[in-house]
Amino acid sequence: TRPLKVALLGCGVVGSEVARIMTTHADDLAARIGAPVELAGVAVRRPSKVREGIPAELVTTDATALVKRGDIDVVVEVIGGIEPARTLITTAFEYGASVVSANKALLAQDGAALHAAAEDHDADLYYEAAVAGAIPLIRPLRESLAGDKVNRVLGIVNGTTNFILDKMDSTGAGYQEALDEATALGYAEADPTADVEAFDAAAKAAILAGIAFHTRVRLDDVYREGMTEVTAADFASAKAMGCTIKLLAICERAEDGASVTARVHPAMIPLTHPLASVRGAYNAVFVESDASGQLMFYGPGAGGAPTASAVLGDLVAVCRNRLNGATGPGESAYAALPVSGMGDV
Ligand code: NDP
Ligand code: HSE
Repeated sequence: TRPLKVALLGCGVVGSEVARIMTTHADDLAARIGAPVELAGVAVRRPSKVREGIPAELVTTDATALVKRGDIDVVVEVIGGIEPARTLITTAFEYGASVVSANKALLAQDGAALHAAAEDHDADLYYEAAVAGAIPLIRPLRESLAGDKVNRVLGIVNGTTNFILDKMDSTGAGYQEALDEATALGYAEADPTADVEAFDAAAKAAILAGIAFHTRVRLDDVYREGMTEVTAADFASAKAMGCTIKLLAICERAEDGASVTARVHPAMIPLTHPLASVRGAYNAVFVESDASGQLMFYGPGAGGAPTASAVLGDLVAVCRNRLNGATGPGESAYAALPVSGMGDV
């Protein structure tokens, strides 16, 4: 069987781990997919940066030319941000590739148009890594729970802010010190304002609500409050009441089923609640549905290797689809429910 060619766009915290795993697990991946997977090119901004394990001849600054080569099976987009990522992804579809992305900011803004572009070209668009790092959440919602009716998705979906809040609470660390550590560990976005002002969590809430409730939810639909104003005094007050403070994302279907609310904000959580024990950059998400009752998804929510795990899972799925001449589930946004930030709360 011919090797499946992968173009890697971005080789930073996540991309470098994707490349490492593709190389070190090449035989296993080939066995699982049914064909070898070949890294055909790696697009970056700074070509002279030393990148361990990446052959220099694969590195390019011309991501557009790489995507337009015409022989690429799968484009893995881990650049981040809106442009050039959006144009590169649509170009990838036009040139016959499927796409795996970790880009929640882009998907929360333009997910519908990107899904439509994928469908127009009989291609796949997978993005498990865009929400909650290594935790399988998108595909369980899209596929495993497709026969159930999800009513609520609630949890911690940003690793950086959970890391900061946990440090402030458990060690008395200052906000800036904890943010610097989260950045050094590769958890924070290129501009960490996205994390601490909860744009990142709001983007994830939009993606989750859209999939869970089969409707379209965009970043602007989500009520958003960051965590920059949480102080040591707030933690002391919370503790006195047997609580801690977490940044929560809450997406709900109204009881009459006719609308959806999505919001992210800091919240007091009783110490006895499972979300209170989510430490460091871990995430945890409860999904409540008619038939299953309550499910909890828990695990590393940020960082290079955990996020690469989700990217690689998508890569395997997309490669298998290509070999079978199939595509996976598309957008499934048929409900067109009105969405608001806070609802009647
Ligand atoms: P980094 O900033 O570490 O890496 C970005 C990469 O993109 C770098 O290799 C950079 O090149 C490259 N790049 C930037 N601009 C261009 C361009 N115009 N053309 C080609 N390459 C370019 O980001 P992360 O790896 O942390 O994040 C990547 C994506 O994954 C983002 O969408 C992020 O939201 C998402 N994500 C990140 C997680 C994490 O824990 N870090 C977790 C889940 C999702 P160079 O190396 O030369 O600078
Ligand atoms: N900056 C994000 C976070 C990366 O801290 O959760 C994972 O999506």
